Amino acid sequence: MPDAIRIVEDNIEATEAWNGPLFDIWIEYRDIVAESLQPHEDAALAVTPPQEGDRVLDIGCGLGDTTVRLARTVGPTGHAHGVDVAERMIETAVDEAAETGIDNVSFAVSDVETTRFDQVFDYAFSRMGTMFFANPVAALRNVREGLAPGGLLNMVVWRRKLDNEFMHRAETVVAEYLDEPEESDVPRCGPGPFSMANADTVTDILKHAGYEDIRLARQDLRYKIGHDLEHAVRFNMALGPAAEVLRLWGDRVDEIRPKIADDLRKALADFVTDGGEVVAPSSTWAVTARAPR
Ligand SMILES: C[S@@+](CC[C@H](N)C(=O)[O-])C[C@H]1O[C@@H](n2cnc3c(N)ncnc32)[C@H](O)[C@@H]1O
Repeated sequence: MPDAIRIVEDNIEATEAWNGPLFDIWIEYRDIVAESLQPHEDAALAVTPPQEGDRVLDIGCGLGDTTVRLARTVGPTGHAHGVDVAERMIETAVDEAAETGIDNVSFAVSDVETTRFDQVFDYAFSRMGTMFFANPVAALRNVREGLAPGGLLNMVVWRRKLDNEFMHRAETVVAEYLDEPEESDVPRCGPGPFSMANADTVTDILKHAGYEDIRLARQDLRYKIGHDLEHAVRFNMALGPAAEVLRLWGDRVDEIRPKIADDLRKALADFVTDGGEVVAPSSTWAVTARAPR
């Protein structure tokens, strides 16, 4: 673990969020997050996978699940390096990767926006780890500078909220009761999960960061949002845009939480399957781009 990393001023609040309350939530809901995101990750990796022997960077790697997967994919002649600004994420990733016994994986605490990579990568991947930078052009330029000529960036990001109806519905329910508070003691998570939903915006970010051959592939896939309806209500009140508003209000809104939970139960009931699991349509972009040759 490095002694001190440099975090750009505008990313400090988001770092506090990811290293604090969002870390705790990520751990609590880890299984459902991983299960739900897996189809999006699988689809993006199936089209443009890393090759055996590749040196891979995993951006905003969180608990390192995808980093370990990438290390296995590239095999012992390759290597996967996961970076994340949240120290607690990386501590967990390091411990868990050590338990797997694989030795072609490494991790570092790093704000990608301030990091000049001292390794060269053939491939950079991210599962939902690139939407929270205050300045995505600066961060993705650092990634591009770390890529070998012709190296590939492959990142999965949310498409628009309207095509992720469960989140739209949850947000609408919460908005009936609450706007985002102007003041909060709780740190915000940065630009937020939908900051790369617009295809033109993402394309421009990547062009300005120096990439070529920019492509966005729409991935419409099912997304499990709960083992049952109660779990889905809790999950949507813990993570996502509706949850973020509740989190910012904190215990000031404890009284209305049961009413919000009731409304959410009704709003998400359509997505309950015959087996009782809650599965909703969802939509992401698999964004690929290359460092110039
Ligand atoms: C939605 S989570 C995704 C985590 C992981 N990729 C996964 O799929 O489980 C976003 C991650 O981006 C990280 N992150 C946010 N801003 C960052 C920055 N400036 N530099 C590096 N990582 C950052 C957060 O700490 C968090 O772990």
